Amino acid sequence: MKTTYIKVDPASPDEAALREAAECIKKGGLVAFPTETVYGLGADSFNESAVKKIYIAKGRPSDNPLISHIAHIDDALKLAEYVPEDAKKLMEAYWGGPLTIILKRRGDVPMIVSAGLDTVSIRMPSHSVANMLIRLSGTPIAAPSANLSGSPSPTTFEHCKADMDGRVDMIIDGGECSIGVESTVVDMTGEVPVILRPGAVTLDDIISVCGKGMFGGEYADAPKCPGMKYVHYSPDAEVFAVGDMESFKMPRDENAAIIAYDKYVNAAKGCRFYSAGCSDSEYAARLFYLLRKADEDGIKTVYAQLPENKGMGTAIRNRLLKSAGGRVI
Ligand code: TXA
Ligand code: MG
Repeated sequence: MKTTYIKVDPASPDEAALREAAECIKKGGLVAFPTETVYGLGADSFNESAVKKIYIAKGRPSDNPLISHIAHIDDALKLAEYVPEDAKKLMEAYWGGPLTIILKRRGDVPMIVSAGLDTVSIRMPSHSVANMLIRLSGTPIAAPSANLSGSPSPTTFEHCKADMDGRVDMIIDGGECSIGVESTVVDMTGEVPVILRPGAVTLDDIISVCGKGMFGGEYADAPKCPGMKYVHYSPDAEVFAVGDMESFKMPRDENAAIIAYDKYVNAAKGCRFYSAGCSDSEYAARLFYLLRKADEDGIKTVYAQLPENKGMGTAIRNRLLKSAGGRVI
């Protein structure tokens, strides 16, 4: 398939250009687009054959459900049977933004979107381009991250293009994604909010709104977030997480790279240094970008600093440990 590209300035999105992309969604096409977290690979949530094409384009297992993206809080009711009080409070506090909420699925939402589950996951992004695209399409947009299954999620147009060229009808270039790791996924179908995937909206954030909350999902025997059981975020290079940078012995290997906070730049001699910046949010914004850059640079081994397990650090640790297949040195 021939992929069309359009460039849109997130500071003032060109409605005419996005109208073309919305037409493509309405006709059952696939459009990759930027969000504040990562690039998404979108299709009309209510067009079953279009959603099927998402799974094919990504090489995604069919038992891994998709997030539907909306542009107005009220549109949650196009997908969910009802919205519990706490879920409503979370929507008001964190939408548009990096929070995906799992609710009971309405019967008329195609099964394929939820991979057969009786729940549905919904997110309202804050990104201007994503929002305008959804609004102009007039339908919720089902969109996983726009990477080939197993690879790090794309946070730039170039990385999105590298995976999706020839597999989708259109890619919208809206520059870099500011957050860089995917949304927090919270299950609101039970008594207590359960975080199935950590992200920029933290457990403390959820507790501050709902008065309760916990981590769950992959820590349980049967993962409730089906995506969590698959290989994830893996570049071709071998990845190791570094638990303690102070005692880590830098490799003398020109085919190795270290991803760490700036304060370690002078310690890296004889290997490449990839800056994680100075804060957890800078690290999050760069992690997937750097894992892909390692492959582009011909790096064979990546050592990446594990941040502290708090705030955004929890989300970075989650992605990094998956990328490293759990190997910590
Ligand atoms: O930031 C994001 O969430 C990005 C952007 C594009 O919005 N999207 C994204 O989608 O990360 P994806 O498909 O790569 O990851 C969605 C995760 C998967 O692990 C999936 O298993 C889980 O959410 N998920 C989706 N619907 C679910 C449901 N009904 N119940 C449990 N887990 C669900
Ligand atoms: Mg993904």
